[in-house]
Amino acid sequence: MATRRAKISIIGAGNVGATCAHWAAAKELGDIVLLEIPERGDFAKGKALDLACCAPIEGFDSNIIGTSDYKDIAGSDVVVITAGLPRKPGMSRDDLIQTNVKIVKDVSAKVREFAPDSIVIVVSNPLDAMVYTAWKVTGFPTHRVMGQAGALDVARYKEFLAMELKCSVEDITALLLGGHGDDMVPLPRLTSVSGIPVLDLLPEEKVKACVDRAKVGGGEIVKLMGTSAFYAPASGTIQMVEAIVKDKKRIIASAAYCEDEFGIARGQKGKGYFVGVPALLGAKGVERVITFKMTADEQKLMDESVSHVKDLVSTVTKLFPELA
Ligand code: NAI
Ligand code: 2OP
Repeated sequence: MATRRAKISIIGAGNVGATCAHWAAAKELGDIVLLEIPERGDFAKGKALDLACCAPIEGFDSNIIGTSDYKDIAGSDVVVITAGLPRKPGMSRDDLIQTNVKIVKDVSAKVREFAPDSIVIVVSNPLDAMVYTAWKVTGFPTHRVMGQAGALDVARYKEFLAMELKCSVEDITALLLGGHGDDMVPLPRLTSVSGIPVLDLLPEEKVKACVDRAKVGGGEIVKLMGTSAFYAPASGTIQMVEAIVKDKKRIIASAAYCEDEFGIARGQKGKGYFVGVPALLGAKGVERVITFKMTADEQKLMDESVSHVKDLVSTVTKLFPELA
């Protein structure tokens, strides 16, 4: 019986976008469209051809094309938005808001027009505000719009713990919630190593140091490289794409729409926010937000992080009142 290959379109063929295409092809998740602005000429075509020539070595049969024509994204199952400026040393993610809202707004209008049935994963920063922008402009149901940040932040946290414990990253289970910023919410209480609570294996201050390093992990890399990270951000994004195209029902920290969940919009229907929470990802997109009882301290940190997300969204709606 014939099954259809998934179609994955990636908007922005820069560092994150091209690396997403790389991971998606290597995992043979489907056919890939890499889209760039016409001002970059045939850049995306070159990237796509270079990646396509890896196929005989790596043994994948994904078709990869580069384009500037939105008609090529028609029929996409998943659209990943990486278009936008990355930060440079000394910049925060929030400094990108003015330029990137405009870019994500334009891109989202094209996605609405040319891939109206797709599931959208936003990566552009400041992430929590860009997901909101994509949701408003596409008008897609909330379960078909989400943002990548938690997959990356959790990966960084796990990696730093594994370095500390000198054990395999595969044995660490962890979660971080909240916005994609330095105020993300640590949850050492829910971190374990092969089922053993991490706080039984490491002193609290060592665990805290790993959380703190994950919080500023993006900034640490910007300082080292002069531009923002892309291997791990793309890897986190493709983890989400894989969960969707294979209908895996994986629970991955993702920026997903919440109202009552974790007290984010407290009963205000239609007034929710996209915030990093555990989300069950499958063929329909965010199929469920997984909630659990937080301690009073965790809830306080979550409220603070959400208030930062609300401020970012309010900046977006001040700049572009039509997005309110
Ligand atoms: P980059 O500069 O390498 O690539 C961005 C690409 O977007 C460029 O090739 C540019 O020509 C393209 N672009 C600009 N306007 C466009 C438009 N209207 N349509 C299509 N393409 C357009 O930047 P990089 O490193 O790939 O980062 C991309 C975005 O992702 C940045 O906003 C960055 O802050 C964000 N990011 C988010 C992360 C997360 O965890 N959520 C992690 C890493 C980066
Ligand atoms: C990161 O955390 C810049 O958001 C990007 O690396």
